[in-house]
Amino acid sequence: MEEELRALGLQPDSVDGGADVEIAWSDLPRVTQALRCASRLYVRIGRSDVRDGQELRRLLASLPWALWPLPESVHVRWSVRKATSARAGWLAHETDRILALRPKGEHPPLTLLIRVTGPEVEVSVDAAGRPMHQRGWRTEQGEAPLRETVAAAMLRAVGYDGTQALWDPMCGSGTLAIEAATWHCAVSVRPWDVDAWHLPPSPQAEVVVTRGPIVAGDLDADVIAVAIRNAERAGVAGAIDFRPVEIASQLRDGFRPECVVVNPPWGRRLGGRNEARRLLQRLCAVLLRDALGARAAILTPEPQAIRELPLRDATSRQVDCGGASLFLIAGIIAAPSTRRSR
Ligand SMILES: C[S@@+](CC[C@H](N)C(=O)[O-])C[C@H]1O[C@@H](n2cnc3c(N)ncnc32)[C@H](O)[C@@H]1O
Repeated sequence: MEEELRALGLQPDSVDGGADVEIAWSDLPRVTQALRCASRLYVRIGRSDVRDGQELRRLLASLPWALWPLPESVHVRWSVRKATSARAGWLAHETDRILALRPKGEHPPLTLLIRVTGPEVEVSVDAAGRPMHQRGWRTEQGEAPLRETVAAAMLRAVGYDGTQALWDPMCGSGTLAIEAATWHCAVSVRPWDVDAWHLPPSPQAEVVVTRGPIVAGDLDADVIAVAIRNAERAGVAGAIDFRPVEIASQLRDGFRPECVVVNPPWGRRLGGRNEARRLLQRLCAVLLRDALGARAAILTPEPQAIRELPLRDATSRQVDCGGASLFLIAGIIAAPSTRRSR
């Protein structure tokens, strides 16, 4: 995610669980659209010590309310550290009471995050208004679908920028291919809350100029039908060549991918663990035959896979996939004699 921020010309600082960055208000819609790996984007809008009702009212009144067309309601999420439950309860009760006095409109709800740390209360507004993996098009899914933000992280891990030839040989409901196609076609993800705020006009979005094909396969024809409908909802169906066949037959036409992203079934969720391991071995053989030299990113629960996969200059990092911790292993597909891991 920090790489994404830097690519937008920003200078993020690492903080626990994320990154902190300063941007102009007018740039917020562009940045919110461009961040594909982030799960939430909060804008800090007020901070002070709060000891009584008057200080709380002052803090809430100081928020930049004119930015938002009157929302139909204000939702508050809380994060409390170094404060008693009595103080947290009092703050929640008083905040609800004060916010209920605000005039209501017909616009989407506004979502605030209030962090309480000891005497300090910090208020932020959620620029997206919902978890950012909810792109809006995946209303149908196969088994074990991938979070869209993790799919974006896998695409970043292979250096995908919307221009290279890409292959997902086990596409399921199409998450990786559809996320890639939205980069390739420069299609916006759904409107976020920030798009309705009263901000000065934002600069032009960056547009990808060159194009590269995307191939997504799966042996399950029913799940491919789901993926096609998802791609239609995302407005990118024309950018993806869906192939409902087994991995070994998907690239018979000689298509040569520059990037490969795979989220294979894994023992705990699909089939047995031994079956998953056999499939991984089969995938290795197919990758060596059909995608030698391509950059690959594979998501697996097996930490030792970094030694088994046919990858040169391989790196591994743990990623949180909806509560499960998996390994995102990336590298260049290479024959055994040329491999080296980091
Ligand atoms: C974990 S799911 C992929 C989920 C997908 N990333 C998503 O977001 O929906 C793994 C997929 O691999 C497919 N698969 C399993 N064995 C396969 C094979 N030999 N050839 C092609 N696809 C296969 C399954 O049908 C399943 O859809």
